[in-house]
Amino acid sequence: MTRLAVIPGDGVGPEVLAEALPLLEWARNRGRKLAWEHFPQGADHYLATGETLSDATFSRLRDGFDAVIFGAVGDPRIPDGRHAEGILLRLRQDLQLAVNWRPCTPFLASHSPLRDRSVEAQRLEVFRENTEGLYCLQGTREGGHAVDLAIHTEAAVDRLLNEAFRRAETLGAPLTLAHKANVLKFGHGLWVARFEVLKAKHPEVAARGMHADALLCALVQDPTPFGVIAADNYLGDLISDLTAAFMGGMGMAPSLSYAPHRPFRCHALAEPVHGSAPDLVGRDQANPTGAILSLGLLFGHLGWSAEAERVDQAVAKALQGGAATRDLGGNLSTQEMGAAIRADLT
Ligand code: NAD
Ligand code: IPM
Ligand code: MN
Repeated sequence: MTRLAVIPGDGVGPEVLAEALPLLEWARNRGRKLAWEHFPQGADHYLATGETLSDATFSRLRDGFDAVIFGAVGDPRIPDGRHAEGILLRLRQDLQLAVNWRPCTPFLASHSPLRDRSVEAQRLEVFRENTEGLYCLQGTREGGHAVDLAIHTEAAVDRLLNEAFRRAETLGAPLTLAHKANVLKFGHGLWVARFEVLKAKHPEVAARGMHADALLCALVQDPTPFGVIAADNYLGDLISDLTAAFMGGMGMAPSLSYAPHRPFRCHALAEPVHGSAPDLVGRDQANPTGAILSLGLLFGHLGWSAEAERVDQAVAKALQGGAATRDLGGNLSTQEMGAAIRADLT
């Protein structure tokens, strides 16, 4: 029995997950053995109880579930985002979900800047390290002096790079490491050194390093030569919002965080790339596609490849049929878009 923990979180998180969660029922009706349970963690829960994610709840998630399905965190009432640190960043870090896979799936939605290009031009996958770098939450600010510590360990870098090489090999795609080792000599120096070692072990992958600033310019001009892009936490965060634009916008992009070495029962977390979108909350306007596609990624990760493929096909069919929320230039509501995609999942 696969057990999934559902954390809808804040803002549009619950709205987009409401459209994605019927896919669990659908998978179960197809014979997949799964159960799921909702958790209240998020801004309301934090403001009411003072709890972000208690040690007891974290242990239950870690040992009693196989994966987490996450909506979004972020609430204007908590401007410093401390509950987001306590919930989402803690889950990523303490579950050791070093790999954040953010594929940019080629659907050529109407608002994609690539809509007039061939589908192949959009085939991009970002592998973002997800547990350390600048996001390790260590630093100081005293007077006019601020420090954010960036920690990079060979263990996490290797976990990320191994998956990126493995994926590039499977896709027969080139692999580019985004870095700034020309300036960040220590941290990104480690990334480049490990990349060179693994490159020697994967002679069949066309692998190269590239300065991230130059990469961004080249990527916007022509994404065709880029297949898989590997990056540290910060650069991967930025690059994957850019590739979301290639899909049509923030509402489209899915992600799966996972721990390749599976240190705990709970080894994956599916969530759309976007945040809580406070500007859209309660309007039934958020695009649920990224959340739905994230569930598709999770299905594939659980070995349910038929279901994963069907989810991608359902999204492609709905978009081809003209289904579009406002961010894609259409006028479907969140619920209508969800229904349009699920129409193919019977
Ligand atoms: P955001 O992703 O919430 O929104 C950025 C833009 O994308 C906004 O214009 C928004 O309207 C649009 N957008 C987002 N989701 C959409 C959807 N499903 N459909 C259509 N349009 C969508 O990023 P932000 O505004 O920088 O951050 C808002 C809050 O979310 C902050 O508190 C931030 O920290 C948090 N955040 C959380 C996550 C996460 O939970 N993984 C990710 C990013 C940001
Ligand atoms: C994302 C978000 C998060 C991140 C924030 C909310 C901590 O931007 O999932 O991309 O930076 O990882
Ligand atoms: Mn982000």
